[in-house]
Amino acid sequence: MDYDQQNARKLFTSFQIGAMQLSRRIVMSHLTRTRCPNGVPGDIVAKYYAQRATPGGLLISEGILPSFMMLPTPPCTYTQGHITAWGSVTDTVHARGAYLVCQLWHAISPMSFVEIRETITDFAHASGCAIEAGFDCVETLEIFDTVSTATETVRTAMRFSLFGVFLIPLDTDSLGTYRYVLSEIEERCFAYICLTQPQHDMFLPEIIEIDRLRSAAANSTSKWFVSIPDLVENIKRKLPLAPWNPELLYTGVEEGYTEYPALV
Ligand SMILES: Cc1cc2nc3c(=O)[nH]c(=O)nc-3n(C[C@H](O)[C@H](O)[C@H](O)COP(=O)(O)O)c2cc1C
Repeated sequence: MDYDQQNARKLFTSFQIGAMQLSRRIVMSHLTRTRCPNGVPGDIVAKYYAQRATPGGLLISEGILPSFMMLPTPPCTYTQGHITAWGSVTDTVHARGAYLVCQLWHAISPMSFVEIRETITDFAHASGCAIEAGFDCVETLEIFDTVSTATETVRTAMRFSLFGVFLIPLDTDSLGTYRYVLSEIEERCFAYICLTQPQHDMFLPEIIEIDRLRSAAANSTSKWFVSIPDLVENIKRKLPLAPWNPELLYTGVEEGYTEYPALV
């Protein structure tokens, strides 16, 4: 069996992340889809996640806001209405045997000290709301100690890339910063770290040399989950992958969202 075949086989082995017992290592990555008028996920959102849920599968939510922001149809989790609505989504996903992680995020902009303090309070509140709504874990791009205090370390996760999306690293000693941040996270025993892989990264061979990343445990993918609701089964049967329609990503309607057919 060659290296690729071994890796393909490993995708379908079980795996524990925090308190979640996964049946395989294919994870649905974060996908902003702007289908939440007034920040509230309705029935189509529950249907969308349910279509992509499989027993022992892990879905990571679209980025969800912890407080009010002037953005078009962003999902939110900070009021009782949000908690109830997300509760219906998590119930539907759990009924299919899958797990749902809440990604909390925040628009990056210059902030005053007062705004920073308010944002930290918002993240703590929103993390509590997410857990109350039944999410299995809260993932954030920042402020992880605040989140883990509001949830538990086993229900806290972190997503980041120190390498930026394009060719330019985000600081002058990316590997050193990477090692430092990873060691801080490791000490806290969070559920997982989701490392984004830059699309055109000159440093990738070096990243692979970092010991902790050698055992990278699961792969998350986004775009194929858009157009193939039963992607896991599709991969298992080695069927051709159906293309997505990028023009329908953010329309707010069911077309291009819950209307992609299951292939098997
Ligand atoms: C339509 C779309 C929406 C996305 N929304 C989010 C998001 O809300 N939060 C986030 O961290 N990443 C988001 N991403 C990034 C994906 O989660 C993923 O990291 C990226 O697309 C690379 O994975 P892929 O090559 O399998 O698509 C989004 C990507 C796409 C294409």
